[in-house]
Amino acid sequence: MTRADEPLASRAGSRPTYLPPAVEVARWLQERDPLRLKQLWARADEVRQQYVGADVHLRGLVEVSNHCVRQCHYCGLRAGHRTLPRYRMSADEVLACARQARAFGFGTVVLQAGEDPVLRSDWISEVVRRVKATTGLAVTLSLGERTREELEAWREAGADRYLLRFETSDSRLFRAIHPSRAGQARSRLRCLGELRSLGYEVGSGVMVGLPGQSYASLVDDVMLFREYDLDMVAIGPFVVHPDTPLGSLERGPREVPADELMTTIVVALARLACPQANIPSTTALATLNLTQGHELGLCRGANVVMPNLTPARYRRLYDIYPSKACLFETAEQCAACVRRRVESIGRRVGTGPGGRRRAA
Ligand code: 5AD
Repeated sequence: MTRADEPLASRAGSRPTYLPPAVEVARWLQERDPLRLKQLWARADEVRQQYVGADVHLRGLVEVSNHCVRQCHYCGLRAGHRTLPRYRMSADEVLACARQARAFGFGTVVLQAGEDPVLRSDWISEVVRRVKATTGLAVTLSLGERTREELEAWREAGADRYLLRFETSDSRLFRAIHPSRAGQARSRLRCLGELRSLGYEVGSGVMVGLPGQSYASLVDDVMLFREYDLDMVAIGPFVVHPDTPLGSLERGPREVPADELMTTIVVALARLACPQANIPSTTALATLNLTQGHELGLCRGANVVMPNLTPARYRRLYDIYPSKACLFETAEQCAACVRRRVESIGRRVGTGPGGRRRAA
């Protein structure tokens, strides 16, 4: 391995990267020797420190609606999960959460929902405008595969960033677990290209340990992070949800484990692939390890945490997977807990919007 101050040559010229060749990525993904892995953690931490520093940026997550028209085989919000009570927040409720994010000193609010066509384009635009006007915060949207016109309107309304995970680069596996809507096939990779051309900061990522996922495809995933030069990379373990098709499958052997070690190896490789990116220590990772999950991610390449600001009465209904971290009910408790965790590992909470830094 080269040292952190010697980036490997990058294909696109100025973009730094520390990603080793694919064969080495494949070896890291299957490495289980704690002493060797220590080198990977140290390397990811060193690159993180050099490019994005010690600040951990907090993004306030608002789960605006749990309605979803899609049937993704892993997700509890899928339309087929008929017993789940559904909700949609009002614009005023979203605004109240954004004000809270501001009051807590967060620099960004993330508006996330299932793929919910009832959240009309104009309504989202208006909410984005109001959030920007009243709080000045950076706004990240995570609303699924929407049309180019919608993405464009929201960008004009002031949205800064968009998150859309490609979930897996294995197109066969992707198709198997993402039934497309009749006549509405929309490629996520194409959406990502459009988001980029519209001037969004672009975030994507994958789940780790999906049934049917191979190490070879995970190598491709990491290579794609690099190729897309992602501004944000979100990586979480697959968590079984019993009320979904993947939850009711026979649990046969899986090639890639959906555990904390595997997830943080991919986080570390994502940091090497995209040194300047904002990389969250995800809630799904924290769910596997309530006491140390966030800290592990932050020490192995991540620099962002997304405390949940969704009102308590809705929060338990945002049922992507069971037992989502955290242990607390209120936004105040969540914010205080995350701050404590960040400080416990000698890092500090960042101020300002915390967008992608392009200069090293
Ligand atoms: N386990 C882990 N992550 C999940 N997501 C959806 N369902 C699950 C699950 N069962 C993730 C997907 C999606 C993000 C919002 O949540 O990666 O992009």
